[in-house]
Formats: sequence, structure tokens, C-alpha cells
Amino acid sequence: MQTQHSKSEQRQKMSPARKRKMAWYGLLGILAMAIILPLASYSVHFLGTEAVAQEASSAVNPRSNYWRAVKEGVGGYSAVQGAESGILIAPGGTEWQRLRDNTIAKYMPWGIVGVFVLLLLYHLFHGKNKLDERPSGRRIKRWNWFDRLVHWMTAISFIALAITGTSMLIGKALLIPLLGKAGFALWAQASITVHNVMGPLFTVGIVLMIVMWIWHNFPTATDLQWFKQGGGLFGKNHPPAGRMNGGEKAWFWLVTVVGLAVCVSGIVLVAPIYGFAIPEWAGFLPWVDGTRVDMQEANVIHAVLSLGWTAVALGHVYIGTAGTEGAFEGMSTGYVSAEWAKQHHDQWYNEVAEKGKIIEPEVSAAKAAATRVSTAN
Ligand code: HEM
Repeated sequence: MQTQHSKSEQRQKMSPARKRKMAWYGLLGILAMAIILPLASYSVHFLGTEAVAQEASSAVNPRSNYWRAVKEGVGGYSAVQGAESGILIAPGGTEWQRLRDNTIAKYMPWGIVGVFVLLLLYHLFHGKNKLDERPSGRRIKRWNWFDRLVHWMTAISFIALAITGTSMLIGKALLIPLLGKAGFALWAQASITVHNVMGPLFTVGIVLMIVMWIWHNFPTATDLQWFKQGGGLFGKNHPPAGRMNGGEKAWFWLVTVVGLAVCVSGIVLVAPIYGFAIPEWAGFLPWVDGTRVDMQEANVIHAVLSLGWTAVALGHVYIGTAGTEGAFEGMSTGYVSAEWAKQHHDQWYNEVAEKGKIIEPEVSAAKAAATRVSTAN
């Protein structure tokens, strides 16, 4: 009882100044808490996010791992059957496209333009290689009808393939300004179809040419002489030659080697379009098991060789037409004048003359008259 009494006595004893002081401190305390407490919640939030971010950076996102693997060419499952059908992104594709667009398509067509300009300059300054003797009417049979059929089938398909192939490679840049986008789309579609149809026809022509003409084209010592004298392209001399001269033999072997490589790489490229798989036995060839890397290699081989070949073919076309008097006649009618044979293929001319196979004008006229009579009847 006494203690309670003494406490109330003490309270009664607190001075008014002390009471006011206590009231001020209380008020300041409340104000400080009102400011600090909301800020404290922010700091708690900030520290929390920092911790989460730290945790996230140290852990690896499983999705990015997945896409990294896809980009590296790791295969997955696909119901589609075929080589690499489970691979979404082939890593070599970008490199191949760079090589195709930035090197092959950019520089190689200039080789064709360069050869064209050289031939034009040669023709302007040197002119046609004319016959020294005027044709007398004596003729020699040089190519039979089947030789000519195969030659022209191959030549026409080559020209169609060269135009459509170049359109596919550089047509976008060259033709869109001329035809517009819709016009080019139509042309590009037609080019692909013509290219895919002409390719197999051309391949047949190349194989037939090789089989039929390899016998004329084995190299001899005379060919070396022919090359030493520059093929008679400059000056008035006529280097020696057998049935085919050194230049024609070089062209034949180029057609054989490059032709086969272009045709095989073309078949590799067209196989999926015609829906046939490359047979397993062909796997001994380095680029024919149908994977994307193989297709890219086949594409590069096909494009580089075809462009180089087209440049050289311009030379053959020039020599066979505007460049040499009487050459085109041989491949169109099958006969050449005796004067042409003597000038360009002297050894062959001598052989034919020895065998008595030169057709005299009277014989040709009589034959023509007989044909006229039989058709009239
Ligand atoms: C418009 C185009 C062409 C023309 C005017 C042309 C003209 C000729 C001529 C006149 C000959 C006969 C030469 C002679 O009798 O000595 C010939 C032979 C030949 N042509 Fe063509 N040609 C053309 C395109 C082609 C093409 C594109 C190829 C191959 C892809 C080709 C391959 C050959 C071959 C392999 C020979 C025989 C050469 C030999 O056996 O040594 N020609 N050509």
C-alpha cells in the first residue's frame, strides 16, 4: 500500500517543463517512424531483387541451351524421313551462302564478260580466219547425222542451261530492274523448270559425245606442234593437225572432265526435286550422300565449273561461227570443203585423199540430180 502511494506522489511531483519535453520527444519519435518505415520496405525490396538477379545470372536458362544446340546443328526428332531431316539449322549454311553470294556470284560472271571482250577485240583487230584457196566444190564427209544431232542437242541445252543457271545466280540483281519483281519471279520460276528438264538431256548428250568422239581425241606429237605455233590464231601459218587439232582435243577433254563433274553435281542437286535418293553405292564419291554439307559442296562445284566452262565455250562458239570460214558448214551439213580440210587438218586431208574419199563436184551434182528425180517420181 505504501509503494502505490509513493508512485502517485512522484507523478504529482513531475514538473510541467519535463512533461512538455517528454511530449516533444514523443512527437519527434512518431514523425521519424512515419518517414523511416515506408523507406524500409523499399530497401527490403531492393535487396531481394539483387539477390534474385545474382541467382539468375549464376544459373543457365535451359531454353537457351536448347537453341544453342539447335544452332550448332545438333539433331532432334522428325517424322520426315531423309538425310539430316531432324536437323533444324545446319551451321555451314551461312558460310556457304557467303561464298556463293559474295565470291562466286560477285566475281566469276566477270570472267565470261572478259572472254567476250577479248574475242570481240580479236575479231575487230584480226578478223575472220579465211580460206587461202576458194572452195572448188570438192567436199569431204566430216560428221554423220547422229554426230550432228548429238552436237546440236548438247549445244542448245548448254545455252539454255547457261542462261537459266546464270539467271538463278545473278538474275535478282540484273533482271529485277528490267522486269520488275513480279516479272522476275515468273522468269526465275521458268528458269528453274527449264534448268531441271534440260540438265538430264544435256547429261545424255555429254555422255554420247564422250563415247562417240573419244577415238578422235587421243593426244599425239602433232598436237604439241599445233600448240607451239599458237594454233595459227596469229599470223598466216597453218600448224599441222590430224582429224582434230590440238585446240579441239583440249576442248573435247575439257568437255569430258568438266562436263562429267558438272553433270554429276547437277544430279546431286536435282535428286531431291525428282524425289529419288542418291544410291548408297555412290557414297564413294565425296559429296553424294544427300546431307546439306554435300549439297553445298555440289552447288559450289557446279557453279564454279559451269561459269568457267561457259567462258571457255564462248571461244568454241566463236571459232565455230564467225571466227573460221567453213567450220560451221561442217557441223550443219556434215560436209566440209576440201580446201578447208587441207588448210586446217592437213594430215587428215592426206589420209582421206589417199583413201579416195574426196567427193568430186560432178559426183555431188549427179547425186543431187538423182535425189531430185527420185523425189519427183
Ligand atoms: C552455238 C554453239 C556451238 C557452235 C556454233 C559449235 C560449233 C561446232 C563446230 C563447227 C564443230 C566442228 C569442228 C570441226 O569440224 O572441226 C564443233 C565440234 C564440237 N563441239 Fe561444238 N559448237 C557449239 C556449242 C557446243 C557446246 C555447248 C559444246 C559442249 C557442251 C560443244 C562441244 C563440241 C565438241 C565436243 C566438238 C567436237 C570436238 C572434238 O571432237 O574434238 N559445242 N562445234
